[in-house]
Amino acid sequence: MAQNDHLTLQDEELGRKGKQRIDWAWRKMPVLQRVMQEWEKTQPLKDIRIAACLHISAKTANLARVLKAGGARLVLCASNPLSTQDDIAAALNVVYGIPTYARRGVDNDTYYRQIHAALDSEPQLTIDDGADLVTTLHEKRPAQVGQVIGGTEETTTGVIRLRAMAKDGALKYPVVAVNDALTKHLFDNRYGTGQSTMDGILRATNYLLAGAVFVVIGYGWCGRGIAARARGLGARVIVVEVNPFKALEALMDGYGVSDMKTAAAQADFIVTATGDIHAVGKEHIPYLKDGVILANAGHFNVEIDISELEAQAVSRRIVKDNVEEFLMPDGRRIFLLGEGRLVNLACGEGHPCEVMDLSFTNQALSAAWLVSMHGRLQPTVYKVPPEIDERVARMKLDAYGVKIEELTDEQRRYLTSWEAGT
Ligand SMILES: NC(=O)c1ccc[n+]([C@@H]2O[C@H](COP(=O)([O-])OP(=O)(O)OC[C@H]3O[C@@H](n4cnc5c(N)ncnc54)[C@H](O)[C@@H]3O)[C@@H](O)[C@H]2O)c1
Repeated sequence: MAQNDHLTLQDEELGRKGKQRIDWAWRKMPVLQRVMQEWEKTQPLKDIRIAACLHISAKTANLARVLKAGGARLVLCASNPLSTQDDIAAALNVVYGIPTYARRGVDNDTYYRQIHAALDSEPQLTIDDGADLVTTLHEKRPAQVGQVIGGTEETTTGVIRLRAMAKDGALKYPVVAVNDALTKHLFDNRYGTGQSTMDGILRATNYLLAGAVFVVIGYGWCGRGIAARARGLGARVIVVEVNPFKALEALMDGYGVSDMKTAAAQADFIVTATGDIHAVGKEHIPYLKDGVILANAGHFNVEIDISELEAQAVSRRIVKDNVEEFLMPDGRRIFLLGEGRLVNLACGEGHPCEVMDLSFTNQALSAAWLVSMHGRLQPTVYKVPPEIDERVARMKLDAYGVKIEELTDEQRRYLTSWEAGT
């Protein structure tokens, strides 16, 4: 067995199953399809070594195929120990020949060994989701940092970490905040997380949402999507926020808004989407109702204070796939889905293909942009260039067969002048 083989899945039968799902997703990824056709000819990533730390799903496999078609020498690892879909990891290894260090349910130590295995490929570009790859590279393998041209970051939490690194002078190469592209967070975080969070909760519980009290903590892009989809299924939604503008927005969007203790005392379901630590914390646990379902849609498993839940409980046990019960001394049972990891990936298949078509086209085009700008960028966090963002939106509209209006010259002049008034 070659070094690191134990960190990968090489099962042929599993790989064949994974390929079917990758092909199925590809049907609804027309923008990436277009990029692939173009890149097979233009090869913008020719011989560039890329390490990508992403949720190993069918959509990610299709991004990997596109990067490889563009000439990249690509290695993948998982961005979360519980989000890997094993059949997809196997397919990437045995069908597509893309080394993929990922297995569902590995422990923390193995998770980081997989990241190190990906970094052994000496990447010139990093593609990250949550910034574990970038921080491991900077902290544990500083000698390698000099050969990196740049990186891209997929999610809100990762962008927050990278901006903090840049502020401290710790970031040593340019990174593009893919999350901040309009064609990313407006669709992926909102519609993607919205739908797939419901999907994960329903697969894990099979419970009815109609009539249930559904608490969403955090009314950012993800929270807005989750609240809208929960309402669509008939739940009575209560939003908990710390930001007064977002709280006001939730109120005028027609939701109940309250502080956490009040919401906790009513909730049948609670979903965190804050990117923050202990949104469900020690002080809230005594207020939770018997039978409440807790789930997290934020990036890390820190949003629900699981150690505190365990400390207050008399027992903790798995009651079915992806559902754990915490029995409290007063007899209340509190249920946690997917070990408090992103529920849409831990208990479901992650975002729908159509939104990942947008997010991953931004990833691919931003990677090629970094290569084209080699030597001209600073070690800081960059926006996705607006022309890339707009191109992605236009390609998606085109794929849907939707035509939009164009400004006339007269309108363009009017909208950039000040002379004409009442
Ligand atoms: N599950 C997924 O597939 C998926 C997809 C995209 C993003 N994410 C992750 O979801 C998280 C949220 O992302 P976003 O784009 O919605 O971020 P956002 O910044 O748009 O929204 C977060 C909101 O949470 C609020 N908040 C922070 N701490 C809070 C607290 N203790 N109580 C109540 N509200 C609080 C903030 O005021 C903000 O409005 C991040 O960790 C992000 O990386 C997950």
